Amino acid sequence: MGKLDGKVAVITGAASGMGRASAIRFAREGAAVIVTDLNEEGGSGTVAECKTLGGKAVFQRVDVSSEADIKGAVDRAVKEFGRLDIMFNNAGLGGATGPLEKVTRENWDRTMAILLGAVFLGIKYSVPELRKVGGGSIISTSSVGGLRGSGYLAAYCAAKAAVINLTQSAAIEYGHDHIRVNCICPGGVNTPLIYAGSKGGYEEAEKNMARMQPIPRAGRPEDIANMALFLASDEAEWITGTAMVVDGGMNTGNARFRLSNLANAGFSGPSYTRGS
Ligand SMILES: NC(=O)c1ccc[n+]([C@@H]2O[C@H](COP(=O)([O-])OP(=O)(O)OC[C@H]3O[C@@H](n4cnc5c(N)ncnc54)[C@H](O)[C@@H]3O)[C@@H](O)[C@H]2O)c1
Repeated sequence: MGKLDGKVAVITGAASGMGRASAIRFAREGAAVIVTDLNEEGGSGTVAECKTLGGKAVFQRVDVSSEADIKGAVDRAVKEFGRLDIMFNNAGLGGATGPLEKVTRENWDRTMAILLGAVFLGIKYSVPELRKVGGGSIISTSSVGGLRGSGYLAAYCAAKAAVINLTQSAAIEYGHDHIRVNCICPGGVNTPLIYAGSKGGYEEAEKNMARMQPIPRAGRPEDIANMALFLASDEAEWITGTAMVVDGGMNTGNARFRLSNLANAGFSGPSYTRGS
């Protein structure tokens, strides 16, 4: 028996990375999946993989900054599979980069539309359908960048921080409908979003990212898919309003900050010693 048997999910950004891994995982666990993305070729690849594993999936081209497209994805779930149980607002990109004083209003607004507006729309259009089936699970992809700032990526971090807060507000609004609303804060996950911009490609990104957190390897899309599966499943029935951090320990502090003079077991301080 699969953990998502009989459930229907919409996943945005499912042509690549974490969305793709989640679609495949959900399908393997028995869900029917509406694979949505701007990238039709990648999306069709995800659908093919889901089907190879014996799952049910269809592709729908969606630009998450379009209200009509997001409504269309929810409608497709109902038309194709008769219901909606899981909405995973995952699509994303880096958005506006550079010092704040150089960020254009247009790039700021585009970033907000894709990373934050799309989450609002995903909640707005999924809630009525989730209510009809007695509840469900809304999951959104935030980031460790939503927990702390980051130079030259302020719009991204601000949008991802807002996703956490929006998740909390929505969880309060819809708890009584048994609609759970949670988000995931991934750390450094080696997806095309990261390695497409790295000179040395996947391998170099893998090496660099292994040093970014206490657990010495880059994150994998499957690490996030595992958390998404948990939040989507009935095992998370009493979990709502949370921001689940999946980051190999990155958010605990600086993994490289280990003072060599403290490496030997003993006792340190006080700095004052009598008579000195
Ligand atoms: N990779 C990381 O280290 C990392 C860390 C924290 C958070 N995230 C977040 O994880 C999510 C997934 O990213 P990923 O790393 O899997 O990247 P990815 O590039 O592999 O996948 C993102 C997908 O979103 C799609 N997409 C982008 N803009 C879209 C739009 N307007 N409409 C529809 N689809 C669109 C892309 O085509 C792509 O298929 C994003 O929200 C990202 O911000 C990534």
